[in-house]
Amino acid sequence: MRDTAIVPVASAPVPLIDLQAQRARIGARIEAAIKRVLDHGAYIMGPEVFEVERRLAALSGAQHVISCSNGTSAMVMALMAWDVGRGDAVFVPSFTFTATAEVAAIVGATPAFVDVLPDTFNMDPDSLARAIAVAEQTGLKPRVVIPVDLFGQPADHDAIRMIADKHDLFILDDAAQSFGASYKGKMLGSLADITATSFYPSKPLGCYGDGGAVFTNNEDWAKKLTQVRVHGQGRDRNETVRIGLTARFDSIQAAVLLEKLSIFESECEARQKIAARYDAGLKGAVTTPYVRPDCTSVWAQYTVSSPRRDRIVAALSAKQIATAQFYAKPIHLQTPYRGFPVAGGGLFVTERLAQEVVSLPMHPYLAPDIQDEIIATVRAAVA
Ligand SMILES: Cc1ncc(COP(=O)(O)O)c(C=O)c1O
Repeated sequence: MRDTAIVPVASAPVPLIDLQAQRARIGARIEAAIKRVLDHGAYIMGPEVFEVERRLAALSGAQHVISCSNGTSAMVMALMAWDVGRGDAVFVPSFTFTATAEVAAIVGATPAFVDVLPDTFNMDPDSLARAIAVAEQTGLKPRVVIPVDLFGQPADHDAIRMIADKHDLFILDDAAQSFGASYKGKMLGSLADITATSFYPSKPLGCYGDGGAVFTNNEDWAKKLTQVRVHGQGRDRNETVRIGLTARFDSIQAAVLLEKLSIFESECEARQKIAARYDAGLKGAVTTPYVRPDCTSVWAQYTVSSPRRDRIVAALSAKQIATAQFYAKPIHLQTPYRGFPVAGGGLFVTERLAQEVVSLPMHPYLAPDIQDEIIATVRAAVA
């Protein structure tokens, strides 16, 4: 979910995500928060960083929250804390942002690709079982599954847990797009063994730069994650206990995030209303997003599918309304990932969705008249 099109573009009157509209609401508070950091001068691991971790723990119900430099390093930290590496298989959907597969390759493990379900676009548990069989046949050791909670909606965590337990896999949840969503009444962050999220600016909860966090209820992993975050540091900087990274969250970004957290709930409610309005307006014209009745979505994206996707994109683009095709080319078809294993039975849903999906403008400040114009334009394009 990273594309230049998702950052407000001056020449596009209707951007996919409008961060300036949010800034008009809380810009003065954010500037004051940044100034406080400039005044106290604790740019690295300042009080805002610890306050963010406390607030995220309270919100998610996770016992340990370790903030970090971005969502990709959050996942790398988890794999490093579990000593995942050469000879290990890490199961990932192919219909996701590149980072989900990239982190497996970064630690020297093998990403193994799994298909998604046609309704939620999230990992298909049956395809996961088939991918595990393929990995075993090729001599890899199944170690980790990374379900992605795509576009804001949780994957089917119970079904994935059943398969993971059977094969002794860790579950690392890629909640980069979905922090704030819930599954069967539980917030993401406390469901998987470790959950990773991103605070990239366009995420539902984003800062003004890069940022991320990991969540876990396991004390031992929390300790290792904290060590990996800062060069594998032990009791103090004179002791190195493991190979690590430099992956801290900046105090300035934490200060921005604290202000964003204060409006997060109301922004999530606004996104729900906008999604409901899209659902009502677009039903019958395109396939609108399906949210399971036992889940909530934070609507990082509002993604529809249609065999007439290209006509929708052209019609909206003619009116300078931004769209994005998350994900027009699945990861297993991208050059660096072509040699990695794929679930038995293929990734047919992934490959079809890649041809048909289009994400429409979605943010808490989308005005009803603009939304109506988007709806009317989409309907006319597919008529
Ligand atoms: C599904 C998914 N995973 C991982 C990431 C990586 O997050 P970051 O950009 O903070 O490294 C992203 C963000 O774009 C994402 O959408």
